[in-house]
Amino acid sequence: MNNVILLNKRPVGKPTLNDFTFTNAAIPVPPTGHILLKTVYVSVDPYLRGRMNDSKSYVPPFEIGKPIQSGIIAEVIDSTHSEFKKGDFVSGILEWKEYQVSNGKGLKKVDQKISSLSSFLGILGMTGITAYLGLIEIGAPKAGETIVVSGAAGAVGSVVGQIGKILGCSVVGITGSDEKAELLKSKFKFDYAVNYKTATDLNKAIQNVCPKGVDVYFDNVGGEISDAVLSNINKYARLPICGAISHYNDTEVPVGPRIQPILLTKSAMMKGFIVGDFSAKFPAAINQLAIWLKEGKLTYIETIVYGFENIPQAFIDLFEGKNKGKMIVKI
Ligand SMILES: NC(=O)c1ccc[n+]([C@@H]2O[C@H](COP(=O)([O-])OP(=O)(O)OC[C@H]3O[C@@H](n4cnc5c(N)ncnc54)[C@H](OP(=O)(O)O)[C@@H]3O)[C@@H](O)[C@H]2O)c1
Repeated sequence: MNNVILLNKRPVGKPTLNDFTFTNAAIPVPPTGHILLKTVYVSVDPYLRGRMNDSKSYVPPFEIGKPIQSGIIAEVIDSTHSEFKKGDFVSGILEWKEYQVSNGKGLKKVDQKISSLSSFLGILGMTGITAYLGLIEIGAPKAGETIVVSGAAGAVGSVVGQIGKILGCSVVGITGSDEKAELLKSKFKFDYAVNYKTATDLNKAIQNVCPKGVDVYFDNVGGEISDAVLSNINKYARLPICGAISHYNDTEVPVGPRIQPILLTKSAMMKGFIVGDFSAKFPAAINQLAIWLKEGKLTYIETIVYGFENIPQAFIDLFEGKNKGKMIVKI
């Protein structure tokens, strides 16, 4: 039997298990020139929440009654395709199915000799590339500057901070627990970490650990955390807007401080980006990340959840901060 997860209904606010349906079907038979894939690892990502809304964005919305898709590592278990053979492992945007047929389009072979299979969904995959390109291309940090990153103990944030240290910057992470704050300093070598859930005055807490002000703010979360960082930026600060997870479940348009006067008086640049904007630079980014990984300059952690049936819960748990590093489901 082939287990499949469909979008049951569009979530209102925070997603719940009722927004997903489990169904099953026969294992498909690949036509000539196609491959049969068995899912091995499934990436759950905050951006999937946006695809569950019926709104126009940079990727089309998921359809109700159709399978959800995300980054997946799969094993080729049958093939008459010229480029893929049985036993190969591939990564690509695939459906939340245990088995599926593909014509190979958009799939990339991944090599376990280079790194673990799951790492191609994280540090050597979309989130690692996002951290690298967002920081280098927009943040443009210089040695000696101060970088603040929110969502710091997650897949993107933990890589941003480490790259900041490689480049000779002072790095501050903002995260949601003392345990994660400790991890940022001990494992990822951040200079300071701030727990946004326990800080009584976040603005002051950031000021205390950024005595020279903030030169680069890599924003993964938006909201009040970002308001507090903005009050501490330096002249010519760069602010890559990578994510805004604190707003993904909003049902009303959020209201906050007017930021134009700060950007104006600090001659600062705030720039949103989607990692796909830089697709021509993916090979170079992966190459650099792999070199740093091999040299031991970069490290990563993953929160692995086991079982196909637990994919929706793992996705929901991202909004509760239950992951450290990349959240991945092993089938
Ligand atoms: N622009 C792009 O192309 C691109 C690509 C990839 C990812 N992203 C974005 O980058 C961000 C990080 O993605 P990721 O894959 O690395 O996820 P992640 O950080 O591994 O996981 C999400 C984390 O967000 C934090 N969080 C959840 N709700 C929050 C809230 N209301 N306020 C503050 N923090 C909250 C939680 O950590 P705490 O325990 O610290 O709260 C949670 O662990 C997301 O916003 C994502 O959409 C953008």
